[in-house]
Amino acid sequence: MSEVDQNMSEENVLEGAASEEGRSTCSCAQNEAVGLSTSFSKREEPVYELTRPVFFIGFMGAGKTSVARKLARMCGVGSVDMDTYLERREGKKVKDIFEESGEDAFRAIETEVLCELMGKDPLLISCGGGVVTRPENREMLEQGGFVVFLYVDVEEAASRISDKSSRPLFQDLEAARQRNEERLPYYQAAANITVDTSGKGVSAIAREVRYLLKREGVLCLRQK
Ligand code: S3P
Repeated sequence: MSEVDQNMSEENVLEGAASEEGRSTCSCAQNEAVGLSTSFSKREEPVYELTRPVFFIGFMGAGKTSVARKLARMCGVGSVDMDTYLERREGKKVKDIFEESGEDAFRAIETEVLCELMGKDPLLISCGGGVVTRPENREMLEQGGFVVFLYVDVEEAASRISDKSSRPLFQDLEAARQRNEERLPYYQAAANITVDTSGKGVSAIAREVRYLLKREGVLCLRQK
């Protein structure tokens, strides 16, 4: 379980688990190697399909990875976390890339990864919090898929992230607050839908996103 999972409301996590009764998860080994995962029901019949890639954006600690993963399990669709994919592709941790090569080098790789993921069949894609900082990324997000902005304030984000050592850009609260404020207009402009995650658990957020994606025609019942 990720640290964000652990620190977000247990009550909602349990509620979601109950609604998924009778399901099990299996992931293709090849896909797992690059951070892709697909969850199926026991009968291996995905229930939903995506008509477009769905990008989760928002500040560190918003719950992008946990919510995308939960939603993927709930709906039997594939998900990928950009940072996990990037780390496996590069054979290095994000924090080591920052330390050894700096933020610009990380951003260049991030753009390449975004491009690669764009070319795959539609997935739920949890993006790194800084993906909106590059204009070419913003353009790809806007043109290539459907964007879900998960809003969190910096105080709540800080309380959800217990190990900040893995987040080179979330070391001190004041700098994080400023960074979030600078990014907010980009998150808002790129978003097709916004979900305020304040005080909510992973499952509650995933259900809200599921409802909105269905309403927008992005998540559809799979025809048998
Ligand atoms: C970053 C967010 C991180 C990761 C990197 C930079 C950012 O991802 O991509 O540390 O600039 O906000 P999460 O948002 O998944 O923590």
